[in-house]
Amino acid sequence: MQLTDKFGRKISYLRLAITDRCNLRCQYCMPAHGIDIVKRTALLTYKEMYRIIRVLSELGVDKVRLTGGEPFVRRDFVNFLESLSFNDKLQEINITTNGALISNHIKKLEELNINSINLSIDSLQREKFTKITRRDVYENVYDTLLKLEESKLRLKLNIVVQSGFNTDEIIDFVELSKEKDIAVRFIEEMPFNGKGQRVMEEVWDFNKIINHIKGSYSEVENVLSKKSSTSKNYKIPNYRGTFGIISAFTRTICNDCDRIRITATGMFKNCLFDGGVFNVRDFIRDGASDDDLKELFIKTVDKKPKNGFIAEASRDNDVSESMSTIGG
Ligand code: GTP
Ligand code: 5AD
Ligand code: SF4
Repeated sequence: MQLTDKFGRKISYLRLAITDRCNLRCQYCMPAHGIDIVKRTALLTYKEMYRIIRVLSELGVDKVRLTGGEPFVRRDFVNFLESLSFNDKLQEINITTNGALISNHIKKLEELNINSINLSIDSLQREKFTKITRRDVYENVYDTLLKLEESKLRLKLNIVVQSGFNTDEIIDFVELSKEKDIAVRFIEEMPFNGKGQRVMEEVWDFNKIINHIKGSYSEVENVLSKKSSTSKNYKIPNYRGTFGIISAFTRTICNDCDRIRITATGMFKNCLFDGGVFNVRDFIRDGASDDDLKELFIKTVDKKPKNGFIAEASRDNDVSESMSTIGG
């Protein structure tokens, strides 16, 4: 059985948010104060998450990315990873993290065969990093970066390009790929910070970022990636790693989209941009059987929009939701 939508797109990738809570307060993601966190009882339990993943894996989902908020702030997250490692239908278990809490867990993550870590790091300068994240954890995050680079886990860096904050570091980040076998990825900032639109001085979109980088190097090679990849990837000749750009805001990957999302409170989303189709948690707590869940997933995926970005834009929604609740 393979979950497939009515446009023939195979759904094999689940992004599941472990929690809406986070130990940082990145400017583009959350306001400094007055965050509405959901009640603990509203969060999916690990048992519920485990079951959702098992049922979806029986429907052909073989890649899971655990996101947040920050997944490592939830107690027992590593034990949960351990339980997932016994599901042999999963080809890949990946994590997106801010890295501040994980340097002691890296050995364990290797033992559990976690495939890749996407690490958010928006500046290589402590003061600026602290300004962006509103927390003084730069040393911890950079230490995590170094340890991950030496580990057998694949490492991608996520850098949200913020005009007026870190555009002067774009080349420094590309230079990290010279000696290190990592994928550096620049992300266009999206106006989701939990309190409506963030005003940007200047828009750093795909074209502006790539032209800026090309201006500093005599040659930039294209790197082939999977069609469903969020990033368009490149390499400076003879550098060990690669760099890429995620046009989160100006290009969509809808045609080849293979993903669904479930938020920390159990909202099922066919798309980053949709408001949520139904709440899996409520169905489970109302006594749904595995077969009921399967039927529901199959029906819902069939309604996946051809282009979710356009579908949502045409509804003229406000963007008051934060990435920490959407799950990135
Ligand atoms: P892999 O391809 O498995 O490495 O993961 P990823 O790049 O999808 O995941 P990650 O959590 O690192 O997300 C990086 C950025 O891509 C975030 O800013 C996400 O919001 C954005 N992103 C993830 N999925 C989608 C999507 O379906 N559409 C769009 N437009 N952006 C997305
Ligand atoms: N725009 C772009 N990327 C964002 N992320 C969080 N909020 C935003 C935003 N408003 C990124 C994080 C993380 C990934 C999951 O999403 O930096 O790397
Ligand atoms: Fe936390 Fe990630 Fe949001 Fe930063 S972007 S506040 S690290 S969830």
